[in-house]
This record gives sequence, C-alpha cells and structure tokens, in this order.
Amino acid sequence: MDKIVVEGGVPLRGTVQVSGAKNAALPIVAASLLAEGDHVVRNVPDLADVRTMGRLLGHMGCTVERSGDQHAAAIRVPAAVTPEAPYELVKTMRASVVVLGPLVARWGKARVSLPGGCAIGARPIDQHLKGLTALGAKIELEHGYVTATAPRGRLHGAVFTFDGQTVTGTENVMMAAALAEGRSVLRNCAREPEVIDLADALIRMGARIEGAGTDEIRIDGVERLAPLDHDVIADRIEAGTFMVAGALPGCDVVVKGCLADHLEALTEKLRAVGATVTAVEGGVRVVGDGRPRPVDVRTAPHPGFPTDMQAQMMVPLCLADGSSKVTETVFENRFMHVQELLRLGADVAIDGKTAVVRGVPALSGAPVMASDLRASAALVLAGLAAQGTTEVLRVYHLDRGYERIEAKLAPLGARIRREKE
Ligand code: EPZ
Repeated sequence: MDKIVVEGGVPLRGTVQVSGAKNAALPIVAASLLAEGDHVVRNVPDLADVRTMGRLLGHMGCTVERSGDQHAAAIRVPAAVTPEAPYELVKTMRASVVVLGPLVARWGKARVSLPGGCAIGARPIDQHLKGLTALGAKIELEHGYVTATAPRGRLHGAVFTFDGQTVTGTENVMMAAALAEGRSVLRNCAREPEVIDLADALIRMGARIEGAGTDEIRIDGVERLAPLDHDVIADRIEAGTFMVAGALPGCDVVVKGCLADHLEALTEKLRAVGATVTAVEGGVRVVGDGRPRPVDVRTAPHPGFPTDMQAQMMVPLCLADGSSKVTETVFENRFMHVQELLRLGADVAIDGKTAVVRGVPALSGAPVMASDLRASAALVLAGLAAQGTTEVLRVYHLDRGYERIEAKLAPLGARIRREKE
C-alpha cells in the first residue's frame, strides 16, 4: 500500500488544473449501456473508480479503451450484453449500482450485486428500487443480488416522488425512464451538477429530458438512443479541495477548469473564514489571509454546502481563532477524519451529527490513517498546514477520487511525496 508524506508549513502558491468529475463520469459511462455502438467520453479522470466501472462494462461484454493520456474513453457496446454486475466488482465501488437502470431499461433484465454499506454510512438503495418499480420493473432481492426485470420487455413512464434526495438514485431512474414507454415525471430529485451533466449527455444521445438541476425532471421515453459523445464537467469537489488549500494561512492558489457557479456554497464559507475568493479566467483564485476565522457549516444536498467538502472544510476551522460547529446532515458516519485530526493536535468534539471545532494556533505533523475518500483529502490538507511531517497511510482511499494529488500539489510548493508503506 502507498502512503503520502507531507512536510507541512510551506505556503502554497501557483495554479492547479482540475480533472473531470468522478461523480459525473461514473453515471455517464454507465449511460453508454443505453445504446449499441461506439461511444466517446472525454475529460474522464484517470481514477481507480473509473477503471472499476470500465472493468464492469468489460465484464458485461463491452470494450472500454482509454486514450489521450487516459482522459478519453472509447466504449463499444454490443447488441447484447451480460446484464449483470458481480459482487467482486460492486463491493469495490458502490456507484456500480448506476448500471441497474440502463440494463433493465435496455434489455429488460439486470442482476446487480447489492452494494452493501460503506465507511460513511449504510447507504441503502431503496429509493433506486422504488423508482424502478414505479417504472414497471419487477424487483427481487436474493443472495445479495438485486434482480430487476421488465415483465413486458420494456418499462413504462410514471410519476414518482423520491422520499429523499438521492444523487445516484435520481440518475438511475432518469436513465431508465429515458427508454421507458411514455412520459415520466420524477419529483424531489437531486439537483447536483453531476445530474445535469448526465442529463446533457443523455439528451445528446437523443433522450427527451427537461428539468435536470431542478427537483422535478420530466422525461419522454424514446425507442432507442444513439451512442454518447460527451465531455465530462470539471470535478467541483476536487476543485473545492484545492480551494480550501488556498484558504490556508499564507496560501495563494488559482484553481483552473472549475465552474464558479458549482461552488457557491463553499465560496461563501471560504470568504467567511477570511479567505479572498475571486473569479479569474477559467477558474477561481483563493488567497488565505492570516489565521482563519471560525464559521459554522451545515451540509445539505445541492445547492447547499456539499457533504463531500465537509472533511476538507474542517481543516481551516481547526486553525481558526474561535469555535465552529460542523453539522453533517447527509451521511450518518462522516466524521472519521476527526480522530485523525486530533492526532495532529486539533481540538474537535463530536456530538451526534455535529462536531464542535475549537481552533488551535497550530497543528503538528504525525502519522494518520485514511478511512474514506474525502477524509483522506482532509488529512493531506491538514498535513500541508501542520508543522513537521505528516504521513497519510492507506491512500488507496484517496486514489479513488483524486488523480495523483501529490503531482498536482508539488508545483504549488508543497513538499509532498508518495512512498510505499
Ligand atoms: C453520491 O452518492 C456521490 N457519489 C457521493 O460522493 C456524495 O457524497 C453523495 O452523492 C451525496 O452528495 C456518486 O455520485 C458516485 P445519495 P449517493 O444517494 O448517490 C440516503 C464521493 O466522495 N439514501 O445522494 O450514493 C443515503 O444513505 C462520494 O465522491 C437512501 O436512504 O448518495 C444518504 O444518507 C461519497 N436511500 C442520502 O440518501 C437511497 O435509495 C444521500 O445519498 C439512496 C440514498
């Protein structure tokens, strides 16, 4: 296993380029299952999770080739595939569940392993299954697998309201509805930019979708779709992670390739802690101005403060001149970075869904353990801010969502390297 070693205390200065969005690329690659033929997806990040999705499509009989320094994917989908996602692949990446909608919509049958829980929470898929059932799918759960079948060979349109906002749930049901017979109206949908990007990709395949990005999406099903040809949006969470780095004391970072309107909630909080955030050509510039100020943060579905930025945002708050409250409303166990931050000298007390962060003058480097994707990113940021050496162990968590983060941070002056544990 690899570890990342950081010599902290060096102010970061310079420009960093953001990769394509993992959480847009995964459903968009899955959407290729909706149409036979040769698909092209560009600006795909070169990440472990994306490679897993490629292996999953390969298992089904598709061919997936990466080109253009790995950032373009050429996907050939045959007339018939093996419509199943085996446990050995799904257990490494729960987002595999987004193949369920396309498979049952296109071939009338799908067998997908239940993803199981993960570090940050139980993460059930009941809303995915309720939505597909509303479209006429017959759902059976046995031996750890979901089997979905379209009794008449094709799903039908429906009006369906999600009990709660779910990003991949919205994506799964929207993809299935794209090939269903008739109109679907999906309510209480997730509004994340990645849902919009998927809808844009589907529309370019010939799908008839309106309202993506709002809580009501209307879809008129079509008989067949054409192959994908799509450029994935920039990764707003990777961008946000580098913006938080820029907000650390003495740092001045230009984050290129991100869309400012995808990051409004984060921008507000970075300004509240005292950073200067300004739009520049093709991105944003973030300048940390001395010791951060305390600010309360509460995560929420988009356009609220992203849960995927909660761990990273805690780092400047650990150094603030006062106390902040961080409330995690989306997942039930997303404070695992706290125990590791305490090892770096932070002062954080968890009380249910809320962590009270009492700022300290400085953090001190130490070996810490990554537990999930965004917690790992927070530990790298903390290491950059800490005095001395920090070793982040089990960085395979980090590699699921960040393309060579050490290669992106080093040009900013970070003293950071990857080593074998
Ligand atoms: C997506 O996960 C993202 N992953 C997550 O990013 C992100 O944290 C999350 O959305 C929230 O923004 C991808 O897009 C691949 P949800 P998803 O369904 O779709 C509950 C990262 O770091 N729920 O929106 O799985 C669920 O338990 C990852 O890149 C149900 O109860 O999240 C959670 O509490 C981590 N039943 C809440 O809804 C369901 O059927 C939101 O989950 C579905 C979800």
